[in-house]
Amino acid sequence: MKETINGKCVDYTFDGQGIVKNNGKVIFVPGLLKDEEATIEILYQKKDFDVGRIVKINTFSPFRIKPKCPCSTACGGCCFQALDYQEQLKLKFNHASDTLKKIGGISKGISNIYGMEYPYEYRNKIQIPFGFDRQKRIIYGFYKYKSHDIVPIENCAIEDKVHVNILKTIKELMRTMHIDPYNEDTRRGVVRHVLIRHGKVSNETMVVFVVNQLMFPSRKNFVKELVKQNPYISTVVFNLNDRDTNVILGSKEDVVYGSGFIYDTLCGIRFKISSKSFYQVNHDQCEVLYNLAIKEAELKPTDIVLDAYCGIGTIGLIASKQCKTVDGVEIIKEAIYDATNNAKYNGITNAKFVCDDASNYMMNKKYDVVFVDPPRKGLDDPFLKSLLKNEPNKIIYVSCDVGTLARDLKLLKIKYDVKSINLVDMFPHTFHVEAVVSLVLKH
Ligand SMILES: C[S@@+](CC[C@H](N)C(=O)[O-])C[C@H]1O[C@@H](n2cnc3c(N)ncnc32)[C@H](O)[C@@H]1O
Repeated sequence: MKETINGKCVDYTFDGQGIVKNNGKVIFVPGLLKDEEATIEILYQKKDFDVGRIVKINTFSPFRIKPKCPCSTACGGCCFQALDYQEQLKLKFNHASDTLKKIGGISKGISNIYGMEYPYEYRNKIQIPFGFDRQKRIIYGFYKYKSHDIVPIENCAIEDKVHVNILKTIKELMRTMHIDPYNEDTRRGVVRHVLIRHGKVSNETMVVFVVNQLMFPSRKNFVKELVKQNPYISTVVFNLNDRDTNVILGSKEDVVYGSGFIYDTLCGIRFKISSKSFYQVNHDQCEVLYNLAIKEAELKPTDIVLDAYCGIGTIGLIASKQCKTVDGVEIIKEAIYDATNNAKYNGITNAKFVCDDASNYMMNKKYDVVFVDPPRKGLDDPFLKSLLKNEPNKIIYVSCDVGTLARDLKLLKIKYDVKSINLVDMFPHTFHVEAVVSLVLKH
């Protein structure tokens, strides 16, 4: 029998798990809210911490609400669905302030956190694993926290409702046409993941099957039937991933229906999006984020601008209307191809895009304003050194990880004043938040 203890949640981990202290040891308890007291079963013990599960909550938080999604505790996607949304915003605000102070030594306060009016059904992209349950029935859903066990979810509360029927049809067609999900242990089966992207403004939908083999019997009929039952699907792509890896997409693709990409409009500009391009998952909050970034840059018609880590050119193309020229740099070649075409479709002639490592590209380049929007790991040393050496007048740092942002700001503040910090809640019910920091060169 596993050990149980009674304990009180005193705080959260960086990824939203409740923290309980017991005899000097920390227990991580998913789903337990701050100030709640609970009976906790210890699931496993490590040298520095234990991991537990709630058996019974004995004292409830006044901010506990009924989650919209029945699987919210089992699925590793949303850790805060049971916490009132305004409290989630306060929590993210306080956590970001503390992190910026502790890691970055940043004393400037955060001006605002921009939340959503309706914080559900916002995810325009999902990547869903398929598998079998114990009765060998096909299931799809999300991985349980820190595992590869699929929690079956047919109606996720944060995903765009367009996805729901497509996934149901796929499951039913796989069942009737005997197309098996891929099994990671035996390395047999066909369908590993299904990726769906929906353009909120364009209403175009892309379905990508990540498969272990590109060809299989009845593939043509499978796609034909899928599109017949979901006529709003604009394109279907098969992506080959036959490696033993956690990376979802492989490199080889076969477009079997439509053009292989979709369009969507952000801040008045139309973007072409392919399966591998980075495109923010929350359309409406993304507009809030980009508008903030551009506003804080206070661009002048004479400004020479860099959009570093530019993806499909979103920030740079929006900025291009207000400055002299924009260069964009990005490591994924498909995204650069899309960015270049996006400039053309929108009649933008003062922006050009280069496929390169941002740090490599940044050496010895002079810009008035630099936008950076790196992945979670933040900026690397060579990039930071180039920024400090080349001294753009302004840096607008868009970040999806406050920890690495704080680390980078600690270095940048040698030469830059932090003028403003704003947060945008792009991912309600998760622990993630986006930050926009505006930095001005000290004189
Ligand atoms: C957070 S996304 C931002 C993309 C874009 N600014 C947007 O909002 O859609 C980060 C981008 O950085 C790119 N990236 C990652 N490492 C890079 C590197 N070393 N050099 C250039 N780009 C990189 C990724 O491919 C991704 O498109």
